[in-house]
Amino acid sequence: MKDLSPKPGELEPIETASRDEINSVQLERMKWSLSHAYENSPFYRKSFDDAGVHPDDFHSLSDLAKFPFTVKSDLRDNYPFGMFAVPREKLARVHASSGTTGRPTVVGYTRKDIDTWASVVARSIRASGGRAGDMVHVAYGYGLFTGGLGAHYGAEALGCTVVPISGGMTERQVTLMQDFKPDIIMVTPSYMLSILDEFRRAGVDPRDSSLKVGIFGAEPWTNAMRREIEEAFDMHAVDIYGLSEVMGPGVANECVETKDGLHIWEDHFYPEVIDPVTGEVLPDGEKGELVFTSLTKEAFPIIRYRTRDLTRLLPGTARSMRRMEKVTGRSDDMMIVRGVNVFPTQIEEQVLKCSGLSPHYRIELVREGRMDTMIIFTEAMPDAASQDARLNSARELAHHVKSVIGISVKVNVLDPGAMERSVGKAKRVDDKRPSS
Ligand code: DLL
Repeated sequence: MKDLSPKPGELEPIETASRDEINSVQLERMKWSLSHAYENSPFYRKSFDDAGVHPDDFHSLSDLAKFPFTVKSDLRDNYPFGMFAVPREKLARVHASSGTTGRPTVVGYTRKDIDTWASVVARSIRASGGRAGDMVHVAYGYGLFTGGLGAHYGAEALGCTVVPISGGMTERQVTLMQDFKPDIIMVTPSYMLSILDEFRRAGVDPRDSSLKVGIFGAEPWTNAMRREIEEAFDMHAVDIYGLSEVMGPGVANECVETKDGLHIWEDHFYPEVIDPVTGEVLPDGEKGELVFTSLTKEAFPIIRYRTRDLTRLLPGTARSMRRMEKVTGRSDDMMIVRGVNVFPTQIEEQVLKCSGLSPHYRIELVREGRMDTMIIFTEAMPDAASQDARLNSARELAHHVKSVIGISVKVNVLDPGAMERSVGKAKRVDDKRPSS
């Protein structure tokens, strides 16, 4: 794999600024953001008033803890445009997420917000090893989802050649990659696995592809998956994080030279980690729920948004801005099986240990009698598809899960190619337990 570390002068000054400089930028911008939200968004005016706080109560960054949280249902309750801090005519764009229950959540951007967003995605692509002139194959979905257009504008802002292919039509994705020879792919990690299968089906060695870097996000993925993809394509696999409520992709990104967690672009997004039960702010290094406050957004300022993503804040390394540990789970994704807390990514790690299994997996939770049972559906690798080999793989996976996670599971090893392939965010868990 190529050394893609930045050369002196390639970074923005803020990326290597001192902690004092970063704090002072944050302090100034936070004052602006709190006042802007209070003055211009009826939702925030009411929420601050109800909590008995005013933007004038903010003097230092630790004062942020006095302000109320914002949660996903606030967006739903104010559907579609009730939280915005600019008149509708000033919106250059809206995005929305479908949400699994009820109304979608809608977010909006002014022209300037779109530029800010493009600049943080450009920074993220550069951190991943991309440079002006590179060709970027964007296989995140285009549309109301922020992935495709977010990646697109960022790649353009960096000066790249963009291939806006969006998700789906996997065969054509591989043909175009063969013909155009992109340097970078931006896609969900689960869809990258589908693309990998297609390379193999077409008889093309993925290690011969032109790709130098994959920038993967929008769903949790493990370091085991990173190794799998890096090895298969002989390229770097780098993590990009974001959420529509805060901006979209590009809130935080790993640096290709360290791959040690994601640097949060703290000049635009202020992170906190809280105890998910008490709401108390935790010191850096402790694991809890990630909370973000936007520092520069005009149309849709977001104050203390509870992401439900679980991680910890760590000091800067390749950049001075703080890192967040790779998000391996959301509080919503946590399964409780016979009293044991399990995240799908823990299962992913175990699946990837079994050489006879493909990296595709899905989890079903069922109730048998009074017992909760987890069934893991996976797929045999073509060279391990015999009845015996499958039985061995199933036993091996059940053994790993039992010894590492501590629960007994059933494993169902399907024919090679039998699992449904992801084209965007993978749905990992199907909870079929009766709700009561
Ligand atoms: O998924 C934005 C995005 C697009 C990020 C493309 C990266 C790449 P939403 O649809 O609003 O936005 O979903 C946000 O996805 O709260 C996390 O739970 C999860 N997520 C996003 N990136 C990562 C990641 C986009 N790198 C939700 N690792 C977030 C783990 C991630 N989870």
